[in-house]
Amino acid sequence: MDRGDEGTGMDRRELIRSTAAFAAMGTLVGRIAAAAEGEPLQNAADQQTTVLITGASRGIGLEFARRYAGRNWRVIATCRNPASAEALQALKAQHENLILEPLDVLDHAGIDALAARYANQPIDILLNNAGIGGGMENQLFGRLNYATFNEVMAVNAIGPMKVCEAFVKHVEASRLRKMITVSSNQGSIGSVDAARLYWYRSSKSALNMLMVNLAFQLKSRGVIVGLVTPGMTDTDFMKGLPKKMLRPVADAVTDMAREIDRFDLSMTGQFLDTKGQIVPW
Ligand SMILES: NC(=O)c1ccc[n+]([C@@H]2O[C@H](COP(=O)([O-])OP(=O)(O)OC[C@H]3O[C@@H](n4cnc5c(N)ncnc54)[C@H](OP(=O)(O)O)[C@@H]3O)[C@@H](O)[C@H]2O)c1
Repeated sequence: MDRGDEGTGMDRRELIRSTAAFAAMGTLVGRIAAAAEGEPLQNAADQQTTVLITGASRGIGLEFARRYAGRNWRVIATCRNPASAEALQALKAQHENLILEPLDVLDHAGIDALAARYANQPIDILLNNAGIGGGMENQLFGRLNYATFNEVMAVNAIGPMKVCEAFVKHVEASRLRKMITVSSNQGSIGSVDAARLYWYRSSKSALNMLMVNLAFQLKSRGVIVGLVTPGMTDTDFMKGLPKKMLRPVADAVTDMAREIDRFDLSMTGQFLDTKGQIVPW
């Protein structure tokens, strides 16, 4: 390329930059004028990164909501019972970009209704976090509680699948296009070295298989599907275990958020631990 070409290239780039800047300014002025006239800022949210989190009332989901709100993202924090989710309410009071929505992942009609209310609104990261353990006492061989198996599967595996199916268009229309699910090392069949937690483990293995299928399904649509695991984390989920066995929730979320940021389409379908290592299936 000779200097003449370079010079012409620079001029074009300058022109493009200036045009883009004027266009952005025009949009902003238009928005402000519209708002002044009492018209809602229709697409203001489109300019922002949006994350939707399930099970944001406490534990890991709450910490994710805090983390992403701290990035000034638009956070759609969902939980079963917003009225009693005091920590989440307090977080909402500090962040105007945090929206609280009721959502029980067992309620498929409710999931569809929420997806319909957010129709045409891009969701950059759909974060399936809600989960239950099912209680140790219900998963002891010889005294297995089979009703608990259905419940654990419905919350931990079927619920996230339904959420992904309902919100696929929102994610597809976004900039980051990520569907991330919090799984567990307990779902790793390759890591099993003793019998325990029949239901919980099976639900997370099923969840992993569902998400791997989904990764193949959505790759050509540019949607990244990823699985992360927090490791043993100090939340209500692990109540009763000695604290020294558990990591602070903030550390677990720091690690998972880093891996979520790192996920790209070439990594779709991977299951990553807190160090970014691939967890065996
Ligand atoms: N903590 C760990 O060491 C650990 C390890 C591996 C994986 N995980 C996974 O991490 C995720 C979060 O766990 P956590 O430690 O934060 O547990 P947690 O403190 O017990 O919180 C669980 C969250 O899930 C919500 N939830 C339960 N059933 C739901 C339903 N039907 N619909 C919507 N939300 C529901 C709870 O809401 P309510 O407040 O309404 O009950 C709560 O917000 C789970 O998927 C869990 O399997 C945790």
